[in-house]
Amino acid sequence: MIDLQDLGYAIVQVVHNFGATAVVGGAAFMLYMAPQPAPLQRKLAWLVGFGWGAQVLSGMVFGAISHYYYGKFPDIHGIAIAALVVKMLCAVSGLAMVALYLRYADGWADRQRHVAWQILFVLGATALTAAAFLRWFS
Ligand code: HEM
Repeated sequence: MIDLQDLGYAIVQVVHNFGATAVVGGAAFMLYMAPQPAPLQRKLAWLVGFGWGAQVLSGMVFGAISHYYYGKFPDIHGIAIAALVVKMLCAVSGLAMVALYLRYADGWADRQRHVAWQILFVLGATALTAAAFLRWFS
């Protein structure tokens, strides 16, 4: 008989993994490929934005599942809490960066767009690094 709690975590993890791939991979693609046309960059900014949104939502659902089954959130301390806070700050900043990009990037020079993608990449890579610390220190 399949355990519904495990199934829930696994499904949320699928969303969380694809979200992580979108935010890090999307920004990495933009940085390391030849400069792409502005409309394609905009499309990718949407994808990366959905990735950040997926991380926030699926991260919250992780917590909600734990709370549903145990009546409280996981008891984490020290490095694990710091890692979770880093991830949350990266997610909020990533969403804000994408919102700025979608609102204003039409008027930006190539150099400014490049800096925006650099910031998005650093935020994604930082969150992905923090995820490993959250996993193994909790
Ligand atoms: C509001 C933001 C976020 C919250 C609340 C959140 C929360 C969580 C939670 C509760 C877990 C399960 C931890 C465990 O297995 O011990 C997790 C796993 C994970 N998160 Fe996040 N997360 C967030 C953002 C991100 C971001 C932005 C990324 C990557 C760019 C990310 C990447 C990962 C990865 C790769 C795992 C699996 C780690 C593993 O099992 O090895 N998360 N996250």
